[in-house]
Amino acid sequence: MKKSYLTYIVFCLLIICFSCNHKVKISNDLQIEHKVDSILNLMTLEEKIGQMSQIRHFENSSDKNITQKFIGSVIHTQGPKPGEAALDWQNRFTELQNKALSTRLGIPLLIAVDAVHGQNTFDGATIFPHNIGLGATKNEKLVEQIAKITAIESQATGFNWVFSPCVAIPYNEKWGRVYEAFSESTMLTEKLTKASVRGHQGILSDVNTVMATAKHFIGDGATDFGVEGGETSLTNSEINERLLAPYKVAVKEKVGAVMASFNKVSNISMHKHKVLITDTLKVKMNFDGIVVSDWQGYSRFGKNDIIKAGVDMVMAVDGNLDFFQNGLKKGVKDSMVSISRIDDAVKRILRQKFRLGLFEKPFSDVNLVSKIGIKAHRSIAKQAVRESLVLLKNKNNILPLSKEIKKIVVVGEHANNTGLQSGGWTLNWQGTKENYKGATTILEGIKKQVKGNVVYDKDGKQNHFDADVAVIVVGETPYAEFFGDIGHESNQLKLTLTKEHQKYIKIYQEKGIKTVVVLVSGRPLVVTNQINESDAFVAAWLPGSEGDGVAEVLFGDYNFSGKLPHSWPKSVDDFKGKYGPNFWDNSIEPLYPFGYGLKYKTE
Ligand code: BGC
Repeated sequence: MKKSYLTYIVFCLLIICFSCNHKVKISNDLQIEHKVDSILNLMTLEEKIGQMSQIRHFENSSDKNITQKFIGSVIHTQGPKPGEAALDWQNRFTELQNKALSTRLGIPLLIAVDAVHGQNTFDGATIFPHNIGLGATKNEKLVEQIAKITAIESQATGFNWVFSPCVAIPYNEKWGRVYEAFSESTMLTEKLTKASVRGHQGILSDVNTVMATAKHFIGDGATDFGVEGGETSLTNSEINERLLAPYKVAVKEKVGAVMASFNKVSNISMHKHKVLITDTLKVKMNFDGIVVSDWQGYSRFGKNDIIKAGVDMVMAVDGNLDFFQNGLKKGVKDSMVSISRIDDAVKRILRQKFRLGLFEKPFSDVNLVSKIGIKAHRSIAKQAVRESLVLLKNKNNILPLSKEIKKIVVVGEHANNTGLQSGGWTLNWQGTKENYKGATTILEGIKKQVKGNVVYDKDGKQNHFDADVAVIVVGETPYAEFFGDIGHESNQLKLTLTKEHQKYIKIYQEKGIKTVVVLVSGRPLVVTNQINESDAFVAAWLPGSEGDGVAEVLFGDYNFSGKLPHSWPKSVDDFKGKYGPNFWDNSIEPLYPFGYGLKYKTE
């Protein structure tokens, strides 16, 4: 009797608490809406269009434009850095923020960065495996921790907004952005999208969180033949069934922004696809955040039509600002764009600025600078590297390797170059082939593990044929959007390894040396022959700054746990159709199915 009375009291208290919290939340949201409306009522058309504009931070007139053209946001991506040290970066953005605050209405800036695998634009930040590797970990808790750290290191360098996560679902490995996405599986992408948005945004008004962006809406990874910005020839129901789900999850997690995609759907540029942007994302799915255009979206994809379709903020970069602002102003004056559409866009932008707490705390916290690249962050990155490795073959249980081996030869330039092991969007847009600060190479990791003699054969010409084992690290050189598409006019990229890299494996295998191949790549490659030739084969994706995580698994400190986030193609012929050799074409048997991944024997 007494017990059930007590339970009743506890139950009532819980209900009261819940409804109080609920009320607090409702009243917070309402308060924000009131504040947004009262600012909007004061704004001129120029100020409204200003809020809808995003510019680069280093252009000649950036500072002046912020005060005179009422800019809503600045972006940092490829191009001059705001300084050397993190504090220089913060100082530059504080300077720009102060300019914005000095305007008539004092509306703070959103300050955005392409931090897609850590704060990868800053030399010395923790760089995580690209999303494809995180897909292989299937570990949502880890993805959330990684996003949290990315948020901290982004805030530490002055940003309150990141253009991440990419929630594409790639259908064709020829696409140069396969690695930016978690997986070809919608379900796995949903799970990791939720974790990523949660990790980045946490409690959005905290000083160590950032606004996230789900991108690129929609169909970016599903274009015919994997062409960046190409045509996505899927039906509406296929889009709904296969591609929309991660966005639904992101919206449920209150993601602050969604970026429009370069591709077309049903021959309509996504930037001006009103049915998908407004009717589907904003109305049906209830997304109340910002739809941001992609690079120069206004001039490239339909001018005022993109605003009419529902784009709220425009990357008016590289000389595009006046064209955008004047064009939109004229559109409103000529009644081609309704003022209610402009008001809706500005409300969305102001709403997110309030949710981020920017009106109270517009600047980054200087204390966060000491958190960049710290050991605790790197150890999470290293865990991610270990968990992302997928063991595809392990003949006669050659792995784990013994730490007592007398002589190991480590082969290939990818073994000793942190730029090569990190892929695109690392320090530079298209990546780097140089080592960068604070990172460790795969070779350094192997040297830490082994008591015996470790020799390095960078170019497969050193003939260390007396070695007991050859660890051969081969793969792709860094690339990013457009330049990473296989078949793009700018490159000679192939779905296979280069002749030189194929040779590295052959030379040692033909001499009867046991070969362990580690593949560093942003997508599954056609390596059927090389898998046959080697004793063990590991897909390592693009590990990022903690290359030594690879050795910890090769030498048995940890077992393999990664599982393929994509089905693995058998032959180049598999790519003859529109899509890759995955679930779109059931007649094609993959070499390894989605979810495949071995462990080594532990007894
Ligand atoms: C890419 C986006 C990126 C943007 C800003 C575009 O070219 O498609 O993913 O966020 O540039 O750098």
